Amino acid sequence: MQPNRIDAVFLDRDGVLNELIYHEEAGVIDSPFTVDQLKLLPRVGAAIKLLNQNNIKVIVVSNQPGIAKNHFTEAILEEMTNKLKKELAGLGARLDGIYYCLHHPEATNLKYLKICDCRKPKPGLILKTAKELSVDPRHSYVVGDNLSDIKAGKAAGCKTILLGKLKCELCQLMDSENARPDYIATNLYEAAKIVLTNGDILTKGGEPRMEIFLDTASLEEIKDILPWGIITGLTTNQKIFLAEKGCNFRQRVQGILSFIEGPVSIEVTSSSLDELIREAREFASWDNNKIVIKVPMFGDGRGLHAASILAKEGIKTNMTALMNAQQVLLAAKAGATFASIFFNRVKDYGDNPEKVIAESRSLIDRGNFGTKIIVGSIRKPEDVMQAALAGAHIVTIPYKILKQLPLHPKTEETIAEFDRAWEEFKKAEAKSF
Ligand code: E4P
Repeated sequence: MQPNRIDAVFLDRDGVLNELIYHEEAGVIDSPFTVDQLKLLPRVGAAIKLLNQNNIKVIVVSNQPGIAKNHFTEAILEEMTNKLKKELAGLGARLDGIYYCLHHPEATNLKYLKICDCRKPKPGLILKTAKELSVDPRHSYVVGDNLSDIKAGKAAGCKTILLGKLKCELCQLMDSENARPDYIATNLYEAAKIVLTNGDILTKGGEPRMEIFLDTASLEEIKDILPWGIITGLTTNQKIFLAEKGCNFRQRVQGILSFIEGPVSIEVTSSSLDELIREAREFASWDNNKIVIKVPMFGDGRGLHAASILAKEGIKTNMTALMNAQQVLLAAKAGATFASIFFNRVKDYGDNPEKVIAESRSLIDRGNFGTKIIVGSIRKPEDVMQAALAGAHIVTIPYKILKQLPLHPKTEETIAEFDRAWEEFKKAEAKSF
């Protein structure tokens, strides 16, 4: 089990995603009762997009007793949900699921009169949703603005984040009800940062852990390297597939997916925007969790156009063949999950790849983009270190270079010397007994 793995963030809706409303006629602060009253809170889109870009599922789990209390109808709730999804999509953010408990123990609308397991503070809806979406609650967070969210999250085994400001009375209540959250944040964006920090996706200093991907389409190479336990993803391109000529593309990708647990990049080759999108959707349908669509940075902007459409559909992209930081910035703005800088091709062009990586990394960090920089086009072992030290989130390495990385002549000499010493020790030991 990976200790820092994060599967999902479960969000309460009202007071977390959208404003709570003061209903003057009833004298209460409550959920919106009309579609017009549903208004997104600041930076909610940016927070969800950040989680999306880090492959963390974002799921709404919310008590909505308004229908049970005859405040609004099922049709209005559906309209509110559509508005929420549409507004978030406009901000480049996506919800992976929206689940409501419609029951209330004192419902006036008798259809919803029920003492159920899904109404928070009970954990039923979180547990059911987690099962449905293959999410481990122990690797997930619950974010809410009420103690009932915190209690439900704790009961489900999740980490919990309370939105709001801590007041003494609240602390006493938390303690008396055993409902202390793990963290407190002032808004969802801050909560998303806490989630990412705890997953080591960002550490306190803003530096992420670095990953190594394998740059190949050969199953033999994958099988040889995978047991080393250092590979967390894979990249391919058309030239890499040419080296495997004779194989069936789809079958080979499926073979790769059966070995690799992380992201697997495959490149679209078609030229028109419509064809790019069609091909990308087809590839993504083979495994929407792992497949990442490599989209070239075409000079006329259609690669960016494709990446931004795919990002809104929840399809992961890797904008590729990038040679400078401005291309990386555009890829990040378009919502690309990854941006691939080609180390040696930057060099071939006469530019400094380390400078390009460092500038790109600085733009990504300053802009708070979730996009991760992959550095490819690695031709020598020393390229790996230069790329990593310059700020790559990921270095994708061809098999023949990876095989050279553990090797050092002085290490070999040292091992041989220690082996000889051990032989001598064993001989002496045998003689003395
Ligand atoms: C990886 O994503 C790239 O496609 C690959 O590393 C390019 O390498 P090359 O420049 O050696 O063709």
